[in-house]
Amino acid sequence: MDADRFPDDFLFGAATSAYQLEGGIENDWSAWERAGKLKDPAARCGPAVDHWNRFDEDLALLTSLGLKGFRFSLEWARLEPEPGRFDDAAAARYRKNLEAMRQAGVTPVVTLHHFTHPTWFHAQAGWHTPAVLPAWERWVRFCAQLCDGLEVVVCTLNEPLVLLAAGYLSKVFPPGLGDPRATVAALENMARAHVLARAAFKERNPATKVGLAQHLMLFAADRRWNPLDQALSRVADAAFNHALLEALTGGELLLRVPGVTTLRRPIEGAKGSMDYLGLNYYTRGHLRFRPTPPFLEYVFRDPHGRGLTDIGWEVYPEGFGFLLRACKRYGLPIWVLENGIDDRSGQRRAGYLHQHLAELLRARAEGVDVRAYFHWSLLDNFEWLEAWGPRFGLFQVDRATMRRSPTPACEYFKRIATSRMLTPP
Ligand code: BGC
Repeated sequence: MDADRFPDDFLFGAATSAYQLEGGIENDWSAWERAGKLKDPAARCGPAVDHWNRFDEDLALLTSLGLKGFRFSLEWARLEPEPGRFDDAAAARYRKNLEAMRQAGVTPVVTLHHFTHPTWFHAQAGWHTPAVLPAWERWVRFCAQLCDGLEVVVCTLNEPLVLLAAGYLSKVFPPGLGDPRATVAALENMARAHVLARAAFKERNPATKVGLAQHLMLFAADRRWNPLDQALSRVADAAFNHALLEALTGGELLLRVPGVTTLRRPIEGAKGSMDYLGLNYYTRGHLRFRPTPPFLEYVFRDPHGRGLTDIGWEVYPEGFGFLLRACKRYGLPIWVLENGIDDRSGQRRAGYLHQHLAELLRARAEGVDVRAYFHWSLLDNFEWLEAWGPRFGLFQVDRATMRRSPTPACEYFKRIATSRMLTPP
């Protein structure tokens, strides 16, 4: 295997999500914003970057870079504004977009859930309640019908553990429950939801590839020799990174906090329920034990002096390589569905890409079956609690005019995607 080369069938793409880009969506996040829950309580997603009205232009930007994969999400709130009532016009628009991708030779990776919910969802069917599964099943059946006859790759859920940690265990994302029991119940239901979504798509086309996007973070003990910090990193790695992947490959959800509790739940139909493993990687977090709830603190350090990213995260490509190798145990093809940097100057993204793709190639050379790399993101977008400060886009967006302009990383990424050779920027 050539250490600097990507094989011809390796898929390069870019990733997005509906709420962060499309604009004009009313959902649990727009309500959260109005309730003053963002870091800047006056910030709003609003028209986002108007991707809903500029889809064709944005698809052309993607293909201009030689990228052949586009990850996007179907917005549940747009398509099912009231329980059981679906919006045909919105569905027709998504269908048209999917067809445009196929015509452009682009593989659509369709995410069915990327953090957001219709406004009715939490009152009627929170993830921790039994009512979620029938509501979800109605939704995923609709999605399967919408994609019928088109070759798509399905990502059932984006980063379930991030949503659960932020919205169920703590109170920073909607629904803001702050309830450990509800968090565990919701995790079980999300595993079941993945199985239901898979079935809905496979019934129509057994060849459809179905997986989910798991956020993997490298956890390190903040005080390297402190046994409590070390134990915390191990528990976080097992619970946050691997428990769900193990459930969806092995069939049992196992959560263990040594000396505190162990929970085992068989998840019916979960064994072998992923055709590929979607991996999202950004950074390393240092964990420090605290004697009072929530018992841990996590911080970003910069021991290599590479400079934290503008959002304050460590640039740690070695963690990417480590986690890719750690996922070899699942025996599944790996699709990197997100990796990127908040780089407000636009000057650091090419270097970040180079370092992370070098790790990816190294892992491949060691036998890790990585088949795709999607950069987060195609365009600058609404960054949840941080709103509009961060810039993750290959293309920057001026929100006053909605003008898109390429960052220097565009030329670089294009060179790699088209030459299939990794050379420094
Ligand atoms: C999420 C994206 C987000 C990105 C950068 C990922 O965890 O899936 O929605 O924009 O990280 O924070």
